[in-house]
Amino acid sequence: MKPVNVGLLGLGTVGGGTVNVLRRNAHEITRRAGRGIRVSCAAARDRPRDCNVEGIRFSRDPYSVVDDPDVQIVVELIGGVELARELILRAIANGRHVVTANKALIARHGNELFAAARARGVMVAFEAAVAGGIPIIKAIREGLAGNRIEWLAGIINGTCNYMLSAMREEGREFDEALAEAQRLGYAEADPAFDVDGIDAAHKLTILASIAFGIPLQFDRLHVEGIRYITRTDVVYAEELGYRIKHLGFARATAQGIELRVHPTLIPHRRLIANVDGVMNAVLVNGDAVGPTLYYGAGAGAEPTASAVVADLVDVVRVLTSDPENRVPHLAFQPDALADTPILPMEAVETAYYLRLQALDQPGVLADVTRILGERGISIEAMVQKEPAEGQDDVSVILLTHRVREGQMNDAIQHIERLQSVTAPVTRIRVEGLGR
Ligand code: NDP
Ligand code: HSE
Repeated sequence: MKPVNVGLLGLGTVGGGTVNVLRRNAHEITRRAGRGIRVSCAAARDRPRDCNVEGIRFSRDPYSVVDDPDVQIVVELIGGVELARELILRAIANGRHVVTANKALIARHGNELFAAARARGVMVAFEAAVAGGIPIIKAIREGLAGNRIEWLAGIINGTCNYMLSAMREEGREFDEALAEAQRLGYAEADPAFDVDGIDAAHKLTILASIAFGIPLQFDRLHVEGIRYITRTDVVYAEELGYRIKHLGFARATAQGIELRVHPTLIPHRRLIANVDGVMNAVLVNGDAVGPTLYYGAGAGAEPTASAVVADLVDVVRVLTSDPENRVPHLAFQPDALADTPILPMEAVETAYYLRLQALDQPGVLADVTRILGERGISIEAMVQKEPAEGQDDVSVILLTHRVREGQMNDAIQHIERLQSVTAPVTRIRVEGLGR
């Protein structure tokens, strides 16, 4: 049988990795797919960087790839939203199947793209969009299809995890750790997407949809990045038996779904707390299976290419199947998606790590504990540190029991108004991640 022709948009980190993996593993891939898979044409703005493009028609015009009559599958690896959306919609209109690693695009426009793809009877596959090389989409969409998913928690941004690990293990500064993540090809074109939590929010949007059967709702997430995490907090958390991880968290409650991305203290005995560097991990709790953990490289050329190529094999395997009988894009049948509300952050309940800077004088702790007590917030642990050399304020670290975010916001406002408190309170949420 003739090989399937792929048109590749983008020959950067992931595009180059995809060309290399398809070439190196051509024999194994053909045995799995039942047909060869070859990149027949590709587009980038400049000449390709790190791959061998022999035998691939190169163009600087991405539309020439989506309009090429010989291409059966378009792989979008240019990133960004507007141009990628236009190109994919055009590929779908041309009757091409699509594979993409573009989480920003899927999180923001996936509902539109999937509707267009269904109408045209083609597939849009996006395994590489979440957690790089970990086949987490397939695991939740297919492997856990018998479960009611109760919650999931993921380290889903390799750049943030790499940076937090470098800060903890090597005492690196924030900017230095970010520059290294960029050099290694982990960071987004605009690294603010990584460090401000937006990239993780894109991925959590996708995970929550396939886990709970809800439409993609990126705008409803609570999103925080890692800019406010200092090495001091990393060290104090460690002393209390926790690791700080940038976590995406989604939980189904009786009132609605929690969807949030923020730095989180996790007990260091949990496996997921020990996931370091660029590695990602997603912990999924299903009612039947219990907790399951998926671990692997979350970014980088070939780990991501691994997921892109797996999608290509999946598409090739079902090229001739009835479109009605394919795995639905969002795991649930399109007419069975639920309108479960997303909870506002004020209604979310969690435990907290608080770090206060306060004058070292009598009565300060009494004021703080009174404010917390009046709001029903109970303290699990409290540590006061020696003042640093030449300073007259001290760090006070508190771990609280679970409380609603709204109550905690109110308490923090009152604590920050105390004369003796000298700086804004650092608040990091704590999750036990037990069953
Ligand atoms: P790169 O910046 O390394 O590569 C992008 C490629 O697209 C380059 O070849 C670039 O060409 C080309 N390109 C960009 N704009 C245009 C345009 N207007 N016309 C033609 N070509 C264009 O990005 P990555 O490979 O890192 O990322 C690609 C996608 O994969 C993104 O959606 C990203 O979020 C996603 N992703 C990335 C991962 C990673 O580890 N890097 C992991 C998982 C997903 P040129 O170089 O000439 O400018
Ligand atoms: N910038 C992303 C990350 C790439 O660091 O996780 C993988 O999606």
